[in-house]
Amino acid sequence: MASDDSSLFIDLTVNSDFKRGIFNAIIAPRPIGWISTIDGNGVANLAPFSYFNLFSSLPPIIAFSCNSPEDREAKDTLANARATGEFVYNMASLDLIEQVNATSTPLPAGTDEFVFAGLEKAPCINVSPPRVAASPVSLECRVLKIVRFGDGADEIPTHVTFGRVVGVHIKERFVDGDGYFRTAEAQPVARLGGVQYAVSAPSFELARQFTRASETSY
Ligand SMILES: Cc1cc2nc3c(=O)[nH]c(=O)nc-3n(C[C@H](O)[C@H](O)[C@H](O)COP(=O)(O)O)c2cc1C
Repeated sequence: MASDDSSLFIDLTVNSDFKRGIFNAIIAPRPIGWISTIDGNGVANLAPFSYFNLFSSLPPIIAFSCNSPEDREAKDTLANARATGEFVYNMASLDLIEQVNATSTPLPAGTDEFVFAGLEKAPCINVSPPRVAASPVSLECRVLKIVRFGDGADEIPTHVTFGRVVGVHIKERFVDGDGYFRTAEAQPVARLGGVQYAVSAPSFELARQFTRASETSY
């Protein structure tokens, strides 16, 4: 009989018969990149991606990953980022979560999800796509690289789009007296497995044992 401490091992080198969604529940919570782009006709597009994160702050680099849709070669977000070389991250805050979810609806290419979800647009400065006016933070990005994975047998191609942040919009009510962002007050939503979501619990501080001068905060 298994003790409470026993482990299940799934050997993926010999076994592909497992629940793929398990990774979404394990690598969690994941921040949600709510990505706005425009197509070649200037029509805006907006969709959430939880295969998303920050990978460097100097240079500032973020990335999101699009899996392949069944009905077309690429999701609109990927096609637009590829064609224009630009995208915008918008924070998916708790007050906007219904609209975040609405913008994940598979709509025909050329449909403006801002209009579909009843969201107001605000202009960007260094890139052409609009940002979500109500979002606490938007990051204007230029595409650095798009990397394709998943061309093996029984695999589904996926594309990771890396972008360099070239502009930052922050609502002033979420900036504290020292110029730092009040994350907890902005309430970014994270995705867990399946259709489960989370918002940050009260945060705590843990001092680093070895701290470089450049890392005294954040
Ligand atoms: C919270 C959330 C997170 C999602 N994360 C991803 C993701 O990381 N990658 C992906 O390919 N699709 C993801 N989706 C599904 C896309 O949002 C959906 O396919 C959307 O229609 C894509 O829009 P587009 O074709 O306009 O780019 C997610 C959906 C939700 C609701």
